[in-house]
Amino acid sequence: MKLVLTTILLVSFTVPIVSVNSFASDKPNSDSSASLPGRRLFLKNCAHCHADDATGDEGPDLHSLERPDEFIAKRIRNGVKGKMTAFGQKFSQTDIDNLIAYLRTLK
Ligand code: HEC
Repeated sequence: MKLVLTTILLVSFTVPIVSVNSFASDKPNSDSSASLPGRRLFLKNCAHCHADDATGDEGPDLHSLERPDEFIAKRIRNGVKGKMTAFGQKFSQTDIDNLIAYLRTLK
């Protein structure tokens, strides 16, 4: 009887722990770019012209950009008169680095 009780206790304590663990590893972590800080900036500031998935709308598709980082940083800071907003006043260098890191994940 003691053994049965012990087994029941063990099982009832182990099962929830196992299920919590398997839940944690099932988190939607497959798209690693989804959690990048640059993605949040992109969705807030760029997506209304370049589309949520950056495939382009009013602005061009931003996948597989062959531009150097410096070109992209300048484009973000200065914009394009009459076409793209200039973000130089709004973004820090870190913000711009984060945005470029995000754009580099778009293949
Ligand atoms: C008001 C709309 C608008 C917004 C907001 C906007 N863009 Fe643009 N973007 C454009 C347009 C239009 C172009 C094309 C300009 C041209 O004719 O060279 C462009 C061009 C670019 C390019 C150059 C692509 C290339 O290869 O020439 C990059 C990089 C870019 N945008 C990134 C961004 C990022 C990052 C943001 C957010 C911080 C952003 N854009 C916000 C409209 C926008």
